[in-house]
Amino acid sequence: MNNHEEPQEYPPLPHLPAHVGIIMDGNGRWAKSRGLPRLAGHRAGVENLRRVLRAAVEFGIPIITLYAFSTENWKRPESEVRGLLRLLSEALAKEIGELHKNGVQLRHIGDLSLLSDELQRRVQDAIALTRNNDRLIANIAFNYGGRMEIVEAVRAIVREGLPPESITEDVISNHLFTAGLPDPDLIIRTSGELRVSNFLIWQGAYAEYYIPSVYWPDFDRDELYKALQSFSQRERRYGALNEA
Ligand code: IPE
Ligand code: IPE
Ligand code: MG
Repeated sequence: MNNHEEPQEYPPLPHLPAHVGIIMDGNGRWAKSRGLPRLAGHRAGVENLRRVLRAAVEFGIPIITLYAFSTENWKRPESEVRGLLRLLSEALAKEIGELHKNGVQLRHIGDLSLLSDELQRRVQDAIALTRNNDRLIANIAFNYGGRMEIVEAVRAIVREGLPPESITEDVISNHLFTAGLPDPDLIIRTSGELRVSNFLIWQGAYAEYYIPSVYWPDFDRDELYKALQSFSQRERRYGALNEA
């Protein structure tokens, strides 16, 4: 934002979600609609991520989980996968300073082991640098899949030799990548697609969904505010009746 443009002031919202998940979808279509290669859309998507993180800090969202690359996205052409890995690497190098300054605690969920040693180290360094920040926890889901996460949790539980009777929903939650974090209250999926695509399938059991039609690169501060506004008007029942 430059000095000539005052950001719009928004009225405070009555109920903020403690945890927002975002399926950042539509980069490819955004690019296509402009006659650009898909990777240009991913680049615009990374740019937008910076803006949305800034807005999340501004609006006071405590935790955000961003779906950046799924366990299924390896099925894309090698050139696109390579481009996405390069963008992750560049974005970390370029943005980590500002994220740190803004009090963002960066985390990762998923499996890093398929990434190059150098990229793994870069991610680990960013996590270590920001570990004591407390304005916003930003989980980057990269090579993340909800089913893979549950398989990993089951393996860990079996390895620990826990007796069957002791397995509860909390035990499973505490073995997921998101252990210790509250479940997402709100999951946003940009670009109008009405599916979960393996994102937080356990944790999102009672999430409220918000699906704007805009592609991810166009999901700006106003759009985030609209999502939060929609959330604040939802009546959450968790299977019960909300009678006065
Ligand atoms: C989301 O945008 C980014 C990733 C999945 C990595 P897409 O690349 O899925 O964009 P569309 O859905 O093809 O438009
Ligand atoms: C989900 O989007 C994954 C991310 C946004 C990282 P996809 O574009 O991969 O999902 P599908 O293939 O349309 O279900
Ligand atoms: Mg997509």
